[in-house]
Amino acid sequence: MKIGDKMKRRKLKKAPKIILILLIIFLIIVGITINQNNKTPNSEQKLTQEEKILQNLKKIPYYKKENKNRYLKYQQEHKNKKTEEIVTDVNIGIDKPYYTNTKPSKLLNSNLILVNKYNYLTEDYIPENLEEISIEYARSGMQLVSEAKEAFETLSQEAKKDGMTIIAMSSYRSYDYQVNLYNNYVKSDGKDAADTYSARPGFSEHQTGLAVDIYNKELPYTSFEETKEFEWMQKNAYKYGFILRFPKDKVNITGYQYEAWHYRYVGKKAAKYIHDHNITLEEYYIKKVEN
Ligand code: DAL
Ligand code: ZN
Repeated sequence: MKIGDKMKRRKLKKAPKIILILLIIFLIIVGITINQNNKTPNSEQKLTQEEKILQNLKKIPYYKKENKNRYLKYQQEHKNKKTEEIVTDVNIGIDKPYYTNTKPSKLLNSNLILVNKYNYLTEDYIPENLEEISIEYARSGMQLVSEAKEAFETLSQEAKKDGMTIIAMSSYRSYDYQVNLYNNYVKSDGKDAADTYSARPGFSEHQTGLAVDIYNKELPYTSFEETKEFEWMQKNAYKYGFILRFPKDKVNITGYQYEAWHYRYVGKKAAKYIHDHNITLEEYYIKKVEN
């Protein structure tokens, strides 16, 4: 056999191996491409979905840039909530546990100050212009901020004309007073239970001098819901600038169980809006005050 023939035969033997290797490389490349093609639409889809959500979020007038990631996370956890609710809830802070992410309340000495489980008053905060409510309409020594006091006396006076007895049984409470109150509740009911109905010191709006707990002298304040006075308050409180602060159906927003007896002075304009739209002070604050 000639040398040239031998080499040709070796080449022929090698040929299938090369083809096999090329085929394998080809298949690997095809495999990678298909894999990438499969992945790309998914991540693109995800991006587009997120962009769409963001676009809608940004349409809400009180959208805050710094809350972007919190909105997206909260939206993923609450897919049934409307975009407006996502922005409202996160701005209020309820995407985080109560008493976390707390900050000092702004608008000190304003009727629209917000004090709740995310916004607090310092130990030394005492509102300006505290005045004692007439004992005709209050237990002795009850104080409110001047404007709220006038409004409360007018409310009680008008209610009296309709045969109602509306008496303030707790109004302004100092930081120290709230320390004792809260600690006593914790002692008798435990911290978890106390937190459902009592504010921790600094987090009670009674310290603003704008909140008042009422009763009708006949039933204890905890039964106020059963009285005709409660019905009257439902219909009329807003006309004097007061709102029911912790309604039955808003526990998740306010962070407190229903309190039929606790009213908050916010002024006539805000009270009418809150009443007419069936919202809380938290929602009003996010939409109308902070915005
Ligand atoms: N009971 C209300 C929440 C307070 O303690 O201020
Ligand atoms: Zn109260």
